[in-house]
Amino acid sequence: LMPNPLDPANLFAPDSFLGTAYTLRIREFQAALGLTDPATGAALTTTLWGYGSNRQAPSYPGRTFNVRRGIPITVRYVNELMNSAGPLPHRLPVDTTLDWANPGNLGGRAPVPLVAHRHGGDQVTASDGLPEAWSSPDVNKDGMPDYRGRLYSATYTFDNRQEAAHLWYHDHALGVTRLNVYMGLAGNYFIRDLNEDFLVASGQLPGYPYELPICIQDRQFRATGGLSYPATDPANPQAPNPTHLPEFFGDVIVANGVPWPLFNCERRMYRLRLLNGSDSRVYTLSFALEKLPATRLTFWQIGTDLGLMNSPVALTSLVLAPGERADVLVDFSTVVNSKHGKVIMMNSANTPFPNGLPPVAGTTDRVMAFSVTKPLGFFGFSLSILTGNRVPSNLRPVHGRLPVPQLANAKVRKLMLFEGTDAYGRLQTMLGTVNPAPGNPAGAGFGTFLYTDPVTETIANGSTEIWELYNTTVDAHPIHLHLVDFRVLDRQGFTGVLQPKPMGPGGVASGGYLTNIALSGAPVPALPNEQGRKDTVLAYPGQVTRIVATFDRPGEYVWHCHILSHEDHEMMRRFVVQ
Ligand code: C2O
Ligand code: CU
Repeated sequence: LMPNPLDPANLFAPDSFLGTAYTLRIREFQAALGLTDPATGAALTTTLWGYGSNRQAPSYPGRTFNVRRGIPITVRYVNELMNSAGPLPHRLPVDTTLDWANPGNLGGRAPVPLVAHRHGGDQVTASDGLPEAWSSPDVNKDGMPDYRGRLYSATYTFDNRQEAAHLWYHDHALGVTRLNVYMGLAGNYFIRDLNEDFLVASGQLPGYPYELPICIQDRQFRATGGLSYPATDPANPQAPNPTHLPEFFGDVIVANGVPWPLFNCERRMYRLRLLNGSDSRVYTLSFALEKLPATRLTFWQIGTDLGLMNSPVALTSLVLAPGERADVLVDFSTVVNSKHGKVIMMNSANTPFPNGLPPVAGTTDRVMAFSVTKPLGFFGFSLSILTGNRVPSNLRPVHGRLPVPQLANAKVRKLMLFEGTDAYGRLQTMLGTVNPAPGNPAGAGFGTFLYTDPVTETIANGSTEIWELYNTTVDAHPIHLHLVDFRVLDRQGFTGVLQPKPMGPGGVASGGYLTNIALSGAPVPALPNEQGRKDTVLAYPGQVTRIVATFDRPGEYVWHCHILSHEDHEMMRRFVVQ
């Protein structure tokens, strides 16, 4: 069932042969995802949105970029969510009470605003795909000012100056990101470099076709095959209709768009490029044997969000939060199909994470299966002989070891995650400064509106900063920074007293600050499999999570929670590098 995700046919075609210019055409299409009508057994189709090109139909996930480090490309996005009758309406319930990319007509349902962000990308502001840089099919945004008067362009430039890494691109339109991504607007973006070439050419890392990107998402489907997304919140009947939800958890797990796919593989080492593209669901992944269900395979994580670590880390389970990627090696050469049956990729993470309900046995507790039944291909055979399916000890033979973060002159910024209530009485999780911001005598360190609150994270270009993320909420939140790669330093327990700023005019809660902070216990260093370049980190409840980054490109960017339902409700702040 599973489409081969690194099938070169699914790679993004540049506009010309060997070209570096790409056009992404975003269109609605129908696809059979493997769902069948329970009564008739007939195949069902699903209406999706996807990224295609001048020469390729859209796909779900979107087509895969495969580019070289240091070779710049241009990418032009064209919103083609329209037909001869005009712009298409949104297919999912749009909550127009959020601060959203409102194109301003047809009752808020059409046209659909879109903007693609390259997640993990070290790129200039104008090419970042920020929440307000959206376009609609009836307005060509090239050279147009947005409604706050800033000029932007639909053609983005990426210099690809980063190390080889698994970036991804997805929609980021203000207040409708969760819906646009849910419709299918996400895809992989791989940067390749000499270090990786060397490892693959010397047989130390599996290359094509043994490198397999796996985008993991949860969805809900109608009996007719269409995507379904809730419009109301049963826990909050007073909420507007439609309303966004504090979280979204689907009851079907899809990998590369296919519900619980089965992948036929050879008895050899595979390199899986895992991406959690879900709205809110964290996964704790492991590999179980069908006939020995208590057994878990050992696998090796070799890379974090933005590249290879110094050396592999042996694991039996891996936590992957929305927005995060993991580069792992799984050795199927030890699997004997007749004795072990299939290898099942299991999920044991609670929802919400980490203190919620366990996944449902037989459905959300699993992602996909591998049937180790394919005969060894010539490539697989020869490379397995060469390497003996061993895991390389040095993952950075060309790059050299990861730089050690320089903390001596780093500015320390204290930031927090906290809960409040919005003007409609809905739970809202927000980000802000721990201390009241200077010049805000009302006492808040921040407010709740991304584009009207003052920017408090103003950073000198070239400087290194330590961000301390105090999570005062009861859930873990994956915090993502645009522009930079950061390193996770440590986590430590704390207690404190949240001082909410009283509801502002119009009943909008606009912040708070934290007093009486007491740290508890010793700081716990980043997990071994977090010790690489990261762009998203899980901030656990009751803990301060410390990260360090060097900000080396001037411009305005955002940092936010990557639970899409949270970022759409403005769990997002701007930062400025100047
Ligand atoms: Cu993956 Cu600001 O996003
Ligand atoms: Cu969050």
